[in-house]
Amino acid sequence: MSKLKSGKVAIIGCGFVGSASAFALMQSGLFTEMVLLDANHQKAEGEAEDIVHGIPFGRPMQIYAGDYDDIADAAIIVITAGANQKPDETRLDLVNKNIAIFQSIIPEITKRDFEGILLIVANPVDILTYTAQKLSGYPEKRVIGSGTVLDSARLKYHLGQHLGVDSRSVHAFIVGEHGDSEIAAWSSANISGIPLDNFCEMRGHYNHMEATERIAAEVKQSAYEIISKKGATYYGIAMSVKRICEAIIRDEKSILPISTMLHGEYGISDVVLSLPCIVGRDGYETKVPIDLDQEEVSKLHESANTLKEVLSKFFA
Ligand code: 2OP
Repeated sequence: MSKLKSGKVAIIGCGFVGSASAFALMQSGLFTEMVLLDANHQKAEGEAEDIVHGIPFGRPMQIYAGDYDDIADAAIIVITAGANQKPDETRLDLVNKNIAIFQSIIPEITKRDFEGILLIVANPVDILTYTAQKLSGYPEKRVIGSGTVLDSARLKYHLGQHLGVDSRSVHAFIVGEHGDSEIAAWSSANISGIPLDNFCEMRGHYNHMEATERIAAEVKQSAYEIISKKGATYYGIAMSVKRICEAIIRDEKSILPISTMLHGEYGISDVVLSLPCIVGRDGYETKVPIDLDQEEVSKLHESANTLKEVLSKFFA
């Protein structure tokens, strides 16, 4: 019988992203137990002790600092551990340090017969999701990355602001790398079923090229901009972690642009990057082949090649 506890989540790495995610998950009401792990155990304890004081304003649950033996039966392990970007660093600059960290974390999980979902959040998330898949040997559907869920939220937010409409009525994806080669999939973007350009015109905007280029650049630059001002990004990614966990725990079959391994989609294989996927209890069920125009497909190939070049230094 499976030992997996559907109400239990673990977070490895209690830096800004891990602790903000823990805070978001505490408020979500999705879990009854949350274990925090950090190489600095005292930091994990401090975060747990702080966050539990919010429980009387939320729902009863157990939150504590633990070790690997405490997390083997979790439904989801969220990995945020690793160095984060400093001003002027790209996500890909973190690869050496963070692959080394994964080489110590993933075997600790696999030797304890973990049966749940691994949700990779640390950067470069696509490369680290690939690394976690290779090191764990788990079925690909159980090893997913937060990918461009955050970038797509940033896109929806900026489009919502531009058009004066609720960002939840905006349907638009960023696909590809969670990083500098990401692509705004404009050809499929719509506002509750109305093609983007038509909706823009309804709202008095006619300069489509200028607006889409500016908004895509704002989305791509968001993390750099925030890191230059406050040193890190964590609230947006924390809400993205919450959203992905919600889709899994509630078996929602929501369509989210998570990072997964590609097997010939748009002619691309053996690389992890983000495309919209149906997400539910078993991780991801299937990818959703949205229409991309020729230019978007060619940018997706460039994004895949950027990631493959990095992967080739670590995986034969
Ligand atoms: C972000 O996009 C740095 O990947 C992080 O906010």
